[in-house]
Amino acid sequence: MPLMSGEVNRVLGGGIVPGSLVLLAGDPGIGKSTLLLQLAAEVAKEHSCVFYVTGEESVSQVKMRADRLGIDGQNLYILTQTNVEDTLARLDEHLPALAVIDSIQTMYDPSLSSHPGNVSQIRECARRLLEWGKANNVPLILTGHVTKGGDIAGPRVLEHMVDVSLYMEGDAVSSWRLLRGVKNRFGSTNEVGVLEMTGSGLLDVSDPSESFLLDRPKGAMGSVVVPVLEGNRALLVEIQALTAPSTIPTPRRVATGYDAHRLLLVCSVAMRTCGMPLADYDVIVNVTGGLKIAEPAADLGVALAIASSFRSVPMPGDFAAVGEVGLSGEIRRAPQTERRVKEAARLGFRKCLVPGNTDDRACGPEALHYQRVDTLAQAINMCL
Ligand code: TYD
Ligand code: MG
Repeated sequence: MPLMSGEVNRVLGGGIVPGSLVLLAGDPGIGKSTLLLQLAAEVAKEHSCVFYVTGEESVSQVKMRADRLGIDGQNLYILTQTNVEDTLARLDEHLPALAVIDSIQTMYDPSLSSHPGNVSQIRECARRLLEWGKANNVPLILTGHVTKGGDIAGPRVLEHMVDVSLYMEGDAVSSWRLLRGVKNRFGSTNEVGVLEMTGSGLLDVSDPSESFLLDRPKGAMGSVVVPVLEGNRALLVEIQALTAPSTIPTPRRVATGYDAHRLLLVCSVAMRTCGMPLADYDVIVNVTGGLKIAEPAADLGVALAIASSFRSVPMPGDFAAVGEVGLSGEIRRAPQTERRVKEAARLGFRKCLVPGNTDDRACGPEALHYQRVDTLAQAINMCL
């Protein structure tokens, strides 16, 4: 069943496969129920019966959300139920084209003595749903909450069981949502979908790089654009840095959306190899749009943003940088440089710093001037 949302189709590997078990995990409040209600309503347009089973909300709450999303509810059955046996009985009775279970943590099997949300309950409920879904060739989508600290005590125990496992990520203060495939028996796991939470539900972001850079102030100090890889996709993100004289004995190093340890590393390398006296300065780094960058390839951009703020010299507006910073100040190769440079070129960037050992082929014949750099000191001298 292909869906309207190209971004959701992308991570699902083309659509919903009959009889498949899909897990959608994410922080509470991130938008799982919203996405699945939209999805269920969409499938209900083509099929006579779709079930949305909720143990989290009342029917009137779901109804209010459906109204907000402009869903008329035809063919869509909302069931408030936490007992897996009763749920299966209802599913058996109606044989829906799709059933959403929101969430697996609220489901319980009355034959087990443990509480709902307990690992054995989650496992057993999922196993029974899986068995039923396979036997009846009905696709099921389960939601699961990620616990604080990023660990998915609940959903993770299900990963080996499900066919597709997706994570919804995003920042509470930003409207971007990433849908990341971590397991997919029907397609690539390296896919990432980008959605935006709006006043009327989740919408596809057709050109994420363009959207992420929309609010970027041109010629601002401490701002560098970095092409990062999210799965198979290159996305341009803006990294902002601010350095300010510290008022406390141990200056702060604060990173939002970027690894705190890597920030320490980059600051130390800048101090030792570039003579930047950051020891008395607070350094604050922020990845705009609430994105989280997990890859070291953003190091060079972070270092340049810090240097730009520290020296109060803005970076050129049509400039991007990619490369990992090593402990001796060397710029190390980033995977798939070609893909990143191409994305920068596509969005009109004219210049891109790349690691010194990047081969010509990787940079491509794009209308973009790439500059190889071997060390952080060289990169800073070149740009500032
Ligand atoms: P929700 O889908 O309930 O999250 P989850 O199921 O992952 O816990 O999302 C709730 C948030 O989304 C809530 O803060 C309100 C917001 N929201 C919108 O911004 N627009 C909408 O159209 C809807 C339905 C929700
Ligand atoms: Mg929910």
